[in-house]
Amino acid sequence: KLPVEFVWNPEFGRDPYAAYAALRKKGPVHPIEFPPGVEAFLVVDYEHGRRALNDPRLSKNPFEGPEAFRAILGQGNPVLAHNMLNSDPPDHTRLRRLVAKAFTPRRTESLRPRVQEITDRLIDAMAVKGHAELLDDFAFPLPITVICELLGVPVEDRDDFRRWSTALITPPFDDEQILLRVEANAAIRAYFLRTIAGRRAEPRDDMISALVLARDEEELLSEEELVSTLTLLLIAGHETTVNLIGNGMLALLSDPGQLRLLREQPELLPSAIEEFLRYEGPVERATFRFSTADMEIAGVHIPKRSLVHVSLGAADRDPGAFDDPDTLDITRADNRHVAFGHGIHFCLGAPLARLEAQVAFGTLLRRLPDIALGCPPDELSWRQDGSLIRGLRALPVRF
Ligand code: HEM
Repeated sequence: KLPVEFVWNPEFGRDPYAAYAALRKKGPVHPIEFPPGVEAFLVVDYEHGRRALNDPRLSKNPFEGPEAFRAILGQGNPVLAHNMLNSDPPDHTRLRRLVAKAFTPRRTESLRPRVQEITDRLIDAMAVKGHAELLDDFAFPLPITVICELLGVPVEDRDDFRRWSTALITPPFDDEQILLRVEANAAIRAYFLRTIAGRRAEPRDDMISALVLARDEEELLSEEELVSTLTLLLIAGHETTVNLIGNGMLALLSDPGQLRLLREQPELLPSAIEEFLRYEGPVERATFRFSTADMEIAGVHIPKRSLVHVSLGAADRDPGAFDDPDTLDITRADNRHVAFGHGIHFCLGAPLARLEAQVAFGTLLRRLPDIALGCPPDELSWRQDGSLIRGLRALPVRF
């Protein structure tokens, strides 16, 4: 069995792909002690990973999980447990339909001018300094401002949102982390209940008001599901697009040939973004599922109520699915990466994330034409908290 240290050590943080490649040579599925005390498995190839993401025997409902996992979940009223991402059909279908309208490619495209405006303002502030910490100065504020405006919550509250968001997605393995999680659960619930009450009294033209209407007039979702859906949408804007910008920028700035190519052929931007998603996707392992029956994956027996981690990062570096998987190639054709997942839970926000990334990368390269890393790549540090998200702690740049 792989020990928890497999995913929780500095070396893995620096280069998980080498560890995955060594593992993949032994087989696609491995038992792993993560979280500690929980019966869990790790899938590291593309074929079985992709299939697992869409296997109806693998539930997203955390209450279907192993006893030890439910005990962890019980530490704090789980505000994240009652939304589309953490449910199966028919609840999943109902909850996803309620917000899907807001995230269609066409509705999303209409946000482009506003995304451009926010991007330009952030770059204006950076440009005068000649250097920046790209995550705090740019990659965080951009998607957070967009999602706050979409939902209808004040962007001034974003420091609270970021703190709560981090507490809710960090694995709660020690007492301090458990406490932070319990507090974040209570705070975010109180925040949204207050906001919902405000919209009941005085509706506006925003997503919260629309969902309140769906709840009150058509009873399409419960109050708990409403709060949980808002929490999911808020968090989805925090740890994902942020790291697409950070990880993608690091990959690009570390590869002078690819950087030059993208500068010379800006029309490659959409395919470059798909390649950043494949090469260094942000949602590394935050795609776990729970077996609802005894089953087998690639000949490995998975008992009922096990936790199954599908590593998107490992799948997207599988040489069985991609030529030269460890090479960044912004011209890569037929890039069928799984960075946005696969199947019924495929990322609802993908059109928005792609739009934000197009505007972000396009504008950064155009307005800061000599942008470069502010330190050697090996001085950068990756989050190493057993996090299921792949992201840097900071990304200094100069221009
Ligand atoms: C689901 C990735 C941005 C909203 C997912 C899943 C992945 C993912 C892998 C599926 C998880 C699973 O199957 O277990 C990403 C990446 C993003 C990103 C890589 C940025 C680069 C966003 C944004 C939003 C969003 C900006 C919206 C504000 C959602 C929602 C789901 C989801 C609502 C749940 C869909 C469902 O359960 O049906 N995302 N996401 N995501 N994402 Fe994203």
